[in-house]
Amino acid sequence: MAELKLPFIGHGGDYNPDQWLDRPDILEEDIRLMKLAGCNLMSVGIFAWSALEPEEGRFTFDWLEDVLDQLHEAGISVFLATPSGARPAWMSQRWPEVLRVRPDGGRNLHGGRHNHCFTSPAYRSFVQRINRALAERFGSHPAVVGWHISNEYSGECHCELCQEAFRQFLKARYSTLDALNRAWWTGFWSKTYTDWSQLHSPTTIGETSIHGLNLAWRRFVTHQTADFIKAEIAPLRQLTPDLPVTTNLMEMFGGLNYFELADVLDFASFDSYPRWGHGDGEQVALSAAFNYDWMRSLKQKPFALMESTPSQVNWHEVCKLKKPGMHLLSSLQAIAHGADTVQYFQWRKSRGAAEKFHGAVVDHAGHEHTRTFRDVQAVGGLLPRLKDVVGAMPDARAALIFDAENRWALEDCQGPRRDMGHDKTVLAHYRALKRQGVDLDIIDETCDFSRYRLIAAPMLYMLRPGVAERLADYVRNGSILVCTCFTGRVDQDDLCFLGGFPGPLRQVLGLWAEETDALYDDEHNGLQTPEGRVYACDALCDLIHTEGAETLAVYTEDFYAGMPCVTVNRFGKGRAYYIATCPEACYLDDFYRTVVPEAGVKPIIPELPAGVQVTRRGDLAFVMNFSGAPVEVSLPTGRDLLTGERTNERATLPVNGFRIVRLSPEGEN
Ligand code: GLA
Ligand code: ZN
Repeated sequence: MAELKLPFIGHGGDYNPDQWLDRPDILEEDIRLMKLAGCNLMSVGIFAWSALEPEEGRFTFDWLEDVLDQLHEAGISVFLATPSGARPAWMSQRWPEVLRVRPDGGRNLHGGRHNHCFTSPAYRSFVQRINRALAERFGSHPAVVGWHISNEYSGECHCELCQEAFRQFLKARYSTLDALNRAWWTGFWSKTYTDWSQLHSPTTIGETSIHGLNLAWRRFVTHQTADFIKAEIAPLRQLTPDLPVTTNLMEMFGGLNYFELADVLDFASFDSYPRWGHGDGEQVALSAAFNYDWMRSLKQKPFALMESTPSQVNWHEVCKLKKPGMHLLSSLQAIAHGADTVQYFQWRKSRGAAEKFHGAVVDHAGHEHTRTFRDVQAVGGLLPRLKDVVGAMPDARAALIFDAENRWALEDCQGPRRDMGHDKTVLAHYRALKRQGVDLDIIDETCDFSRYRLIAAPMLYMLRPGVAERLADYVRNGSILVCTCFTGRVDQDDLCFLGGFPGPLRQVLGLWAEETDALYDDEHNGLQTPEGRVYACDALCDLIHTEGAETLAVYTEDFYAGMPCVTVNRFGKGRAYYIATCPEACYLDDFYRTVVPEAGVKPIIPELPAGVQVTRRGDLAFVMNFSGAPVEVSLPTGRDLLTGERTNERATLPVNGFRIVRLSPEGEN
């Protein structure tokens, strides 16, 4: 695999000169403005297919060569894009098979983007041909430092080619129809398949009630997307083996299993669009942080912040401007969590079409005298001072499991609540852990658990083969596992474990979950600790019987008042906690305040005030204030990176303020 080796923190954005080819004056001005903004990295050619191949087989690359030459001359590097995120009209017209088929069986018309069949041999060969041509012409261009493949892969196609590929995928997975029928419990509602040709993707005008089928289809969509990406990349790997390959991924995106997709990429990149300025600043910042931790964990490597907006988007329900200071802070937040670049969608606002009002570094006014441009310049000014972080990673000893396949299975789950609240639970645990001032990886069931001292596994409903055993080993060896309600219910095909929940985790957790009560949104139960403190809990309440575990809290209401709702089981040298319900935030704060030190996970700053985040990369600690108000915080011991002053004191961070501390080696002041 090729590595991304940037000698600087990347700064730039999606650059679409193809929209301005009749305006050489604007292209010239772009270069001047990029230098002025402190930009050093542009993503070029995303969605440029019709400018690159205006008719079948006729490539017009000269304009791109000019642009790359000019950027290089200005000292600006390039992620060169492949254009497969949207097709030219001539292709859809002549080869309709490249267009997607909907779940209802109808074929889409030409239009939009991401509207391609990922199985179609015609589409794959068009993509490979243009990618090969791009690699031949530009693979050794000195400006090019990596490939940006397509754009935000997503969606699915239900055409006959995809159905056939799905059947092949199922044959490889299950071998026989008997095994498939058993795994999918097709005796239910007379669903037994008697011939492979009867298998069809789930669709609202057909089958959706077989959970094994739904899950297999979602697995297939990831598999087929990864297969398409491999085909996209093949000519690039062959011609440019040293150029790293990435594609941009999306926030808390559930359509594809990103851990699987990441296997075919050299590094991950991410498009980040938090709703800054709306609602609780801490919550918005936490969701963003969660995504960054996830992106870094996908490959256990720094990632590229491939897109973010320097001002506003055009697709939130309400598109707020970034308030003063927020652009610098939000860009720094990505760096702090493991990004090696800060890039924008988009460099220059397009004049027409759907994204003309999306924020950009250069506005329709066309000059640098704008608030947004100055905000971008401020980032461009700061990043060179942080260049030591390039390539550096945190030393996360705590992790949270966020597993795509588990999430799919839970989304499909009918009962005990329509909304099982998986994401909410994951974020609640993330928040409480981050409040303890620790670095956190976001992993899935397939990751190595052994490097962690503490793993939170909220709502780990589906346990794939071997996962419970690996978690048991992890606890046995002296680490801490935290599980929650509705854990260990089904296997990899969404078949319930027989013999008592939480299935294969029953022994590690030392309990049996007999039933699960569901609460309406306006209902609560209470969780009482032995000291008599009562916290509210809601949504789901497992009714559990301890089988060796110690009770740490009991329910206060309803017919199950007095039954355990938080337990801990000593297992081998470690401990496994079970939180049988969804407690209010302050309970999780109190819980992790005890459990984090017990696990031996050292905070960068203990007891963070609300709205403040801290992360560490290498020997730099980033302390960031998202609370919306000035806040006092104890800084870690070291020197302020920007002023050189010592920092072992309490400091006040202004609104949207931050401090970057070069940490003193352990024991030194
Ligand atoms: C996505 C896409 C971009 C653009 C932005 C707008 O991230 O990748 O092409 O549409 O959204 O926010
Ligand atoms: Zn298809």
